[in-house]
Amino acid sequence: MSFPQNRMRRMRRTEPLRALVRETTLNPGDLIYPLFLRPGKGLRQAVSSMPGVFNLSIDEALREAEEAAALGIGGLLLFGLPDSKDEQGTGAWSDDGIVQQGLRALKQCGAGSKLVLIADVCLCEYTSHGHCGVVVKTPDGFEIDNDPSLDLLARTAASLARAGADIVAPSDMMDGRVAAIRRALDSGGLAQTPILSYASKFASAFYGPFREAAESTPQFGDRRSYQMDGANFREALLEIDLDLEEGADMILMKPAMPYLDVVRAARDRVAVPIGAYQVSGEYSMLQAAFEKGWLERDRAILESLFGMRRAGADFIVTYFAKDAAKLLG
Ligand code: PBG
Repeated sequence: MSFPQNRMRRMRRTEPLRALVRETTLNPGDLIYPLFLRPGKGLRQAVSSMPGVFNLSIDEALREAEEAAALGIGGLLLFGLPDSKDEQGTGAWSDDGIVQQGLRALKQCGAGSKLVLIADVCLCEYTSHGHCGVVVKTPDGFEIDNDPSLDLLARTAASLARAGADIVAPSDMMDGRVAAIRRALDSGGLAQTPILSYASKFASAFYGPFREAAESTPQFGDRRSYQMDGANFREALLEIDLDLEEGADMILMKPAMPYLDVVRAARDRVAVPIGAYQVSGEYSMLQAAFEKGWLERDRAILESLFGMRRAGADFIVTYFAKDAAKLLG
């Protein structure tokens, strides 16, 4: 059937009509809000490259959690900034590390039971060199040593789960970490804790502002020997398959906007829940455009998130979670 019998505009005439035929939904419960925890009291330090994002002491984080829960947001993703860092990233797996303390406090407050508490598992915020694994010297420089990193990551995940994480989310991109974490959880009486693996995590310029927020910029070199090459698609599918074989319960794709083809392909390929991470650079570039008056704020936020849902993401990690929940509410 073609024009004039067919007129696509008939179903776009009014908002109720458009709502009736809308193919994709977006609800506050689909959104995960990242928080950056740091030791102290009453701290709410602005991150200059991410307007609206703060480093928070635990008391302030609890207030954010209350607000997120009241808005119907699905969960929180927790990152930590320890007071001191070392070669091994001890702060990551210490039972009184900053995220472990935050998890215990969140579990005790009312909001903690309404939100899914996801703990990011990585060493980069805790290591003095800023890499996601153990660094060793080699004849021509240095290397991120895969296998010794696995034990540290597994210990970190177990410690976070013991402290109350509902989900642990490894973002380090070491080979074999999902299996190592699963073993550590199971042997530690934590068989019920799911793993959300950052299965396809690309080496991306869009993480720049996060590294300021999390004080995790590598002191030398970059992350391209462990994060994926942005030009690769099949490799992302292989990463997903391997992580699922190792025991991942859910997968996270990151960044989101430049890699929506990968999100769609993952959705068509696997049955597990999929998340997309609208990373710091995606957030900051939109904020910059809003500040300049170049983009219409509310519509651009929702359009960016709808794009990820349409590509097949079940849930979205986004620094816009509160803004979007307010717009949707
Ligand atoms: C830690 C980690 C990073 C992000 C999430 N977990 C930084 C990185 O890999 O450099 C980035 C998140 C963002 O940019 O919002 N490995």
